Amino acid sequence: MTSNTPQPTTFKPSGPLTGKISVPGDKSISHRALIFSALAIGKSRITGLLEGEDVLATADALRAMGARIEKKNDVWTVHGVGVGGLMQPKNALAMGNSGTSTRLLMGLIASQGISATFIGDASLSKRPMGRVIEPLSQMGADIRARETSDHKACLPLTVRGICPAVPIEYRLPIASAQVKSAILLAGLNTPGITRIVEPVLTRDHSETMLSGFGAEITVETDAKGCRVISLTGEAELKPQKIKVPGDPSSAAFLVVAALIVPGSDIIIENIGINPTRAGLFEVLQNMGGDIRFGKKRTVGGEPVADIRVKHSHLTGINVPADIAPSMIDEFPILFVAAAMASGETTTHGLHELRVKESDRLSQMAKGLGLLGVQVTEGDDGLLIEGSGGKTLAGRQAKPVIETALDHRIAMSFAVAGLVTKSGLSIDDIRPVETSFPGFDDLITKLASS
Ligand code: S3P
Repeated sequence: MTSNTPQPTTFKPSGPLTGKISVPGDKSISHRALIFSALAIGKSRITGLLEGEDVLATADALRAMGARIEKKNDVWTVHGVGVGGLMQPKNALAMGNSGTSTRLLMGLIASQGISATFIGDASLSKRPMGRVIEPLSQMGADIRARETSDHKACLPLTVRGICPAVPIEYRLPIASAQVKSAILLAGLNTPGITRIVEPVLTRDHSETMLSGFGAEITVETDAKGCRVISLTGEAELKPQKIKVPGDPSSAAFLVVAALIVPGSDIIIENIGINPTRAGLFEVLQNMGGDIRFGKKRTVGGEPVADIRVKHSHLTGINVPADIAPSMIDEFPILFVAAAMASGETTTHGLHELRVKESDRLSQMAKGLGLLGVQVTEGDDGLLIEGSGGKTLAGRQAKPVIETALDHRIAMSFAVAGLVTKSGLSIDDIRPVETSFPGFDDLITKLASS
């Protein structure tokens, strides 16, 4: 983070949001674009890369392991070292707030003849790493992590890679694209077939992009309906030109803002609408949201569209648990939409939200409570009684919302602030830089255009 002190920021009631805008590049695709390019032999070019702190942490770590990564004008160039060609980093890899950087790079190092120590901020240092330690250890890596009082393996941790590693067949016990991708990254430098069985579909960027980079990778469905991903190592990756689409997880905040602020009508250009990421849009449409997808096209193997959103009267809904993986990062902002809907919204199956950048169920329940919203926090979801479009007002005129170093909590309450009676403050805007640089200015610009 650029500054060492929290930056409280106020968000006030807003007039209609109007205009045509775009959002920064997709975070998941940006991490993968850098990592796969660093493993290709030769020069890849990336445009639209998200220049948020999380992705920059990945770039710095790859540089520390020998990849040359440069930016000129709007083009990022990565000079890859080849799948087995990473160098021993001299210092600990600083991962900041980024779980994706940490888990993916742990996988990358697991099958190389190098070792690396990972450190992170207070939020990342609480997040569970056992989910990647388990399969990577089966492949032969030696991983030593700090153990918490409740026996969770957390940062700081050290991965001692092994080369050659052992290919495994691994059934994902939790729906996690990070775990899947960590194993695939380890599999790239592992002779033989690394196989992942995925009972619940998660974002598929790694599979799609690895295939684009020339890896031998297949995806099939088995008799039980599980996805089976098979990767043949050792892979040789060819450099690519990558165009990163706008991040649907960032667009989500603006989509909900336009839906709940009366009179709004906005177009968000060039947004990824991969079905493994687009669950929120479907749920909001089912709640009555006027969301339309124009100019549908394919960019770099990913479906993309311009999204038009108009203010709508939303109705509460029961969100089925099986849609959760395709909107796992969007629940905080869905809860804000639910707070403005008519009637009750119920959500289930969201244990994973408790181990994101913060415990998102508890942070959202607390913050919405301060705004006078009726919320019941269950074990694995929230039940929210919406205001039916009425502005939000709690007992305090201008409450201060705790964001717990979580960018998506900060942005969700920034959006909620637009529909409060007299505004709210979030205790710290800095975490937004991890995924959505310029968010604050963009919201202000939209509200005044
Ligand atoms: C991500 C996967 C998801 C998501 C995260 C990005 C990825 O995490 O929450 O923001 O890029 O693979 P999980 O794998 O923990 O579900």
